[in-house]
Order: sequence, then C-alpha cells, then structure tokens
Amino acid sequence: MADRKAPIGVFDSGVGGLTVAREIMRQIPEERIVYFGDTARVPYGSKSRDTIIKYSRQIIRFLKTQGVKAIVVACNTASAVALEDVRKELDIPIIGVIKAGARTAAAATHNGRIGIIATETTINSKVYTHFLEELNPGLCVIGKACPLFVPLVEEGTFLKDPITEEIASRYLQELKEKQIDTLILGCTHYPLIRSTVGRVMGENVTLVNPAYETARELKALLIEEGIGNTSLQEGQEQTHTFYVSDATEKFQQFAESILPCSVKDTTQINIEEY
Ligand code: DGL
Repeated sequence: MADRKAPIGVFDSGVGGLTVAREIMRQIPEERIVYFGDTARVPYGSKSRDTIIKYSRQIIRFLKTQGVKAIVVACNTASAVALEDVRKELDIPIIGVIKAGARTAAAATHNGRIGIIATETTINSKVYTHFLEELNPGLCVIGKACPLFVPLVEEGTFLKDPITEEIASRYLQELKEKQIDTLILGCTHYPLIRSTVGRVMGENVTLVNPAYETARELKALLIEEGIGNTSLQEGQEQTHTFYVSDATEKFQQFAESILPCSVKDTTQINIEEY
C-alpha cells in the first residue's frame, strides 16, 4: 500500500499543466504535488507519438524517484498519445485529462455539437472524438488545431494583446460557423487565454476546462485506492516542489502569476538522464 503522505506527480510539456496543478491545489489542498515541466522540449503538440511516449517514460521514471503515489498527465497531447502505453508499465495509478474533458462536454452540450481546440497531435489522434462518441454516438464533434496558441501563452506578455484576439478569431471562425454550443479547451495552455476565446465564441458557447474534472477524478481515485493524505493539520499549508528541464526563471515568473503558492525552489534537471 502506498504511503498516504507521498506526493502526486503532475507533468506537462511546460507551464500549461500548471492550470491542472492549480485546480488540484484548490480541490485537494491536503495533497503535495511534485510538478515537472519539460520546458527544454516544449512544444509536444507538433511531435510524433513515439517521441512523446519516450519523453513521457523519462518523466515518469524521474517522478518515481520522487516517491510519487499517483501521476497526472497534465498535458492533452501526452494524454492523447502516450497514456495507454505508459499505464501498462506502471505499478501506481495514472490519469490523463482527456476523459475528464470529454465527460464534462458531453454533459454540457444541448445541441449535440461540440468543438475541440488542441494541438495538432491531439486533434490528429482523434482521442477526444473517440471518447465523446463512446459517451454519446449521436454527438457531432469538430476538432481544430490551434498551434499558435501555445507560443503565445508561453511568451506570457501577449495574453491580453489584440494579436491573440486576432489569431483566435481566425482559428475559431470555422467552429462558430458549425454552430457548436460547447468548446473543449483541449490543451492545458488554453485556459490561460480563456477570456479571449470566450469573447470570440460568444456567450452562448460553454467553454470546458478539463482541469476541473481531472482534479475531481483524482480526488475520487485517491479515495477509492485509500491513498489520500489524511495527515495535514487544520490551518497547515501544503508545500509543493517544481522541476523543469530548462532555465528556471521564466517558469517561476509564470508559475507565480497563476499559482497560490511559492515556486521559489524550482530546480532544473537533465531529464535525458532518466
Ligand atoms: N500542454 C500541451 C497540451 O495540453 C500543449 C503544449 C505543447 O504543445 O507542448 O497539449
């Protein structure tokens, strides 16, 4: 039986997975997180399946050295193409973000027309479409890759810039024409430009952020497996640990702007060694 006090490993190709970590901190504040952002090798969204599986295996090997009791793949691209392969090799629970997002969207839609915006690799994998059709074969699912959103978010300074609005308008035009009423933010970076996407799509379109449902799924999993942390005293705050594969400064700046905790002790590691 895993140590209840052991941390949860959360990983992403960069800063995007922090939107999932933030939600876990909100919903399960008693859990300690070890976060890894693969900032040296981002973006994953244009890379091949084999490369992403190789990267995911290395990261999981590293997280295991940190004694994690469960892993959250806080990256849609890695969840889409690597999760099923790495799950078979693991002796601890692992979840991704896609099933959670699909479930929320299927429950939210009224007209049965759901859009997904994500990286090229996630869209091409058709994993979201597959899960949605499994939940409801009558759904009409329309995917759209938005590759420029990731560098815009990683850059940080353009989050509220008209250029982001212009790019969003061009990418989303097709989804507007197809009259979707629900849009999955199928990349962990996209919740950071949620307000722009919401403005472009209009108020009749429900935006689904899979991070919320993923944290709920993790909470349920910890209870089911009997591995949730029960030893945090009332009023005590949990501390989290952050690792990246490239320089720490930019990551720290970004993380501090969106997380409710300190990320001062972010450490750079050589992930190729794992
Ligand atoms: N965070 C990744 C995702 O959710 C996108 C960024 C990337 O391309 O690496 O798909």
